[in-house]
Amino acid sequence: MATGTLGGVDTRKIEALFAVESQRYVAAHPRSQSRTGHGIAGFYDGVPMHWMRDWSMPFPFLVESAQGSQLRDIDGNEYADFCLGDTGSMFGHSSAPVAAAITRQATQGLTYMLPTEDAVVVGGLLSRRFGLPHWQIATTATDANRFALRVARAVTGRPKILVFNGCYHGTVDETYVRLVDGKPVHRPGLLGQFEDLTRMTRVVDFNDVEGLRRELAHGDVACVITEPVLTNSCMVLPEPGFLDAVRRLTRETGTLLLIDETHTISTGPGGYTRAYGLEPDLFVLGKPIAGGVPASVWGMTETVAQRLDAVRASTPPGHSGMGTTLSANALALAAMRATLEHVMTEDAYRSMERLAGTLVDGLQAAITARHMPWHAVRVGARVEFICAPGPLRNGTEAEAAHAPALERAIHLALLNRGCLIAPFHNMMLVCPATTDAQVQRLCGAFAAVIDALAG
Ligand SMILES: Cc1ncc(COP(=O)(O)O)c(C=O)c1O
Repeated sequence: MATGTLGGVDTRKIEALFAVESQRYVAAHPRSQSRTGHGIAGFYDGVPMHWMRDWSMPFPFLVESAQGSQLRDIDGNEYADFCLGDTGSMFGHSSAPVAAAITRQATQGLTYMLPTEDAVVVGGLLSRRFGLPHWQIATTATDANRFALRVARAVTGRPKILVFNGCYHGTVDETYVRLVDGKPVHRPGLLGQFEDLTRMTRVVDFNDVEGLRRELAHGDVACVITEPVLTNSCMVLPEPGFLDAVRRLTRETGTLLLIDETHTISTGPGGYTRAYGLEPDLFVLGKPIAGGVPASVWGMTETVAQRLDAVRASTPPGHSGMGTTLSANALALAAMRATLEHVMTEDAYRSMERLAGTLVDGLQAAITARHMPWHAVRVGARVEFICAPGPLRNGTEAEAAHAPALERAIHLALLNRGCLIAPFHNMMLVCPATTDAQVQRLCGAFAAVIDALAG
């Protein structure tokens, strides 16, 4: 690491902290080290999914079990889990209703490409909760976005989509476009794309109404796909009026609006959409919708559904390019029903909201008291600290706010103090089972880590 400062911290202090915390981690994880220290045999890159190498620790620990907001590794270390499977377990690990539904379904067959009674119930639950009348089930948020974008192209007859710089909507090829010096380019690190993705994707900065107006004026964009809050770089909140402008401009230009609520479902039981009265044409939610069982949902308005009917009626029979064999399997529907009926409740959100407020205030207080040029931000139960001043206005600023070496040292130091946060960004989720004591522990650990960096 070059000498100087990163996020206002001397880089020598960052290196020193990381070295000390790495030693501490190794000492506390002998059994995990024996299993993963040289990579797990049989897996490319030593892990079953290469993202598992992207954590801050020298080698991943093996999880023994997780329940509610608590996770335990095979060395007997316990963590207050604020990562929660990077949102997949946002409503707590193995919550009782979901575990019971999985257990019940386990003896009744898991997948048959036919609906069950649970499907009949879930259709109504989705419509009532999110306000759109027509739904489909997929297996990941990536898939749901892919299928919804396909519908947008099919019904508008337009070839392009528009994304906001710094977005992430899963591994959907056409969203892997960034804005650099006002020009669309491929996102760094992208492998194996089959064509120049910038040909089919327009990209503007979040909160840039004029940029959006300019790009939509071409009349070739089928759909704007966005999160209501950018959560996948450093968190960027919409400026007052921005989301209204997005809706107005998309309507004026005959462009559909896809709201991806996969992370902003942290806002409330109906997501940011319901809490702020957004009116999307297409809606996507993945990750926690079935309590951690792989599943996602995508919904559309009556108008979009009718336009889709018309396109299908004029298309020869064949494969739509949407759907996968295990989508809407019986296990996923059972877990989704349990999650919607018993887990994603008003009561659960009340407790998440309260504790997330305590958390963001505690983090901000630690930052302010130590005069760090950082800030803390949240959307509902989703909290982030950012090692740069805020608020951030767009993806360009969010990208510049990242301080990877500093973040890595902080993550590892928090882990060694019993607090697990998300690896790719400084994200912490509060679930219904999170306790006051866990939040206090994280705030205390965060303050201690800043002291170690600044002292
Ligand atoms: C907003 C958003 N949409 C979609 C996805 C993709 O989810 P998955 O990896 O489960 O397909 C993500 C993943 O982080 C996301 O943040």
